[in-house]
Amino acid sequence: MNKSLAALNKEFPVLKARFSGRRLVYLDSACTVLKMRGAADAQRENLLRLGGCGGRRSFYSLSAGMEEEFESARRAVADFMGAASPDEVIFAGGVTDAANLLANSFPFTKERDEVVLSPLEHNAVFLPFERLAAAGRVKLKVLPLKGLAPDLDALPRLLGRRTALVCLNHASNIFGGRQEIRRAAAVTRAAGAYLFSDDAQFAPTHGSGAAAEGADACAFSGHKLGAPYCTGALYVRRELMAKLRPWRVGGGTVEGVERDGGYKAKYIGGNRGFEAGVQNYAGAAGLAAAIRRLELAGFGNIRAHVSGLVMDAHDRLSAVKGVRVLGDRAALAEGSLISIVPEKRGFSAQDFALFLDSSVKGLSIAVRSGRHCADLACLASGVKETLRLSYFTYNTPADTETFARALERYLRML
Ligand SMILES: Cc1ncc(COP(=O)(O)O)c(C=O)c1O
Repeated sequence: MNKSLAALNKEFPVLKARFSGRRLVYLDSACTVLKMRGAADAQRENLLRLGGCGGRRSFYSLSAGMEEEFESARRAVADFMGAASPDEVIFAGGVTDAANLLANSFPFTKERDEVVLSPLEHNAVFLPFERLAAAGRVKLKVLPLKGLAPDLDALPRLLGRRTALVCLNHASNIFGGRQEIRRAAAVTRAAGAYLFSDDAQFAPTHGSGAAAEGADACAFSGHKLGAPYCTGALYVRRELMAKLRPWRVGGGTVEGVERDGGYKAKYIGGNRGFEAGVQNYAGAAGLAAAIRRLELAGFGNIRAHVSGLVMDAHDRLSAVKGVRVLGDRAALAEGSLISIVPEKRGFSAQDFALFLDSSVKGLSIAVRSGRHCADLACLASGVKETLRLSYFTYNTPADTETFARALERYLRML
């Protein structure tokens, strides 16, 4: 293994934990990446050193220190996301939070009320728009699947004068791979609409690149980078941000309130206008530390390592009779996970996942089974459930081999 990755892998203490005496084989990084010591330390240190009033509310030194650290974290996030300026970054609790914010702040009009979604959207992105549709505020269109990817050739047909927003999941959390944001962004812009990219599964192994590829908005979750839970950000291009109407308002989002017949609030506008109330300052410090640590290890190295693991998994698992690997090798190599579906009678992915946790001597093998909150993808493809192996820097081909042997044993027992 590359030296920078070997050094990075010392940062994950959970890997050394034992579960009822069993060693962890962690193959569920798409759910969450194990937490990094440096990120946890940065969060703790922020709380203990600066844990006073934050958010431009007070002007004494302690508060100014917290503000400085918060904005320094924002600069790290802006660079990571490829933003033109930190002003294009809104701190959010992750992609779910960011997508709810975007959906409910977006300036839909009677004339432009259509949202086109990829069939691979996670419920985190799909449901906020589904709710708006149920309330009669927007109409939804879903791109067809071509193989296991959204059919981008069909995108121009779905776009029209009524299209306001296109949501294109950057890397699927069920089928893996990666989508062509640049191509979708160009077509979307030509139709006068905006493009949002969910970078939840893309950012941890590529860096969050959708802004550089032309997306008008994108979001990632910090916990999937080894940062604390409930951290992350929404990037919004400046021109679109000026049109959004903040969904959540409160302390820190107004210049003041005046009497004007009734009451009239004067909102501050800009990214801070979306960060109502006290923020997760310590989480932002932890997030910035995680980003800096991954950048030090090098996203090129991370990418190459994870891609190699996925290709190895494809080859190894394709040789197992009784399961089917979803997706082709080249497409999967662009992502960080692989899904397999049971093909033998009586094989339940759920039961097998429990077996992996408890019935392999000395080991607790952690994989995800089920629909992975990707209901649209399951409906569009007819896939009912999958077993998903997802990778990060701390995995090796030996983890896949351990899984594959357990799988072969389980299949023999059926
Ligand atoms: C593709 C994708 N989008 C969104 C989410 C939601 O992320 P979070 O729970 O961090 O908000 C996930 C979580 O697994 C995901 O895989």
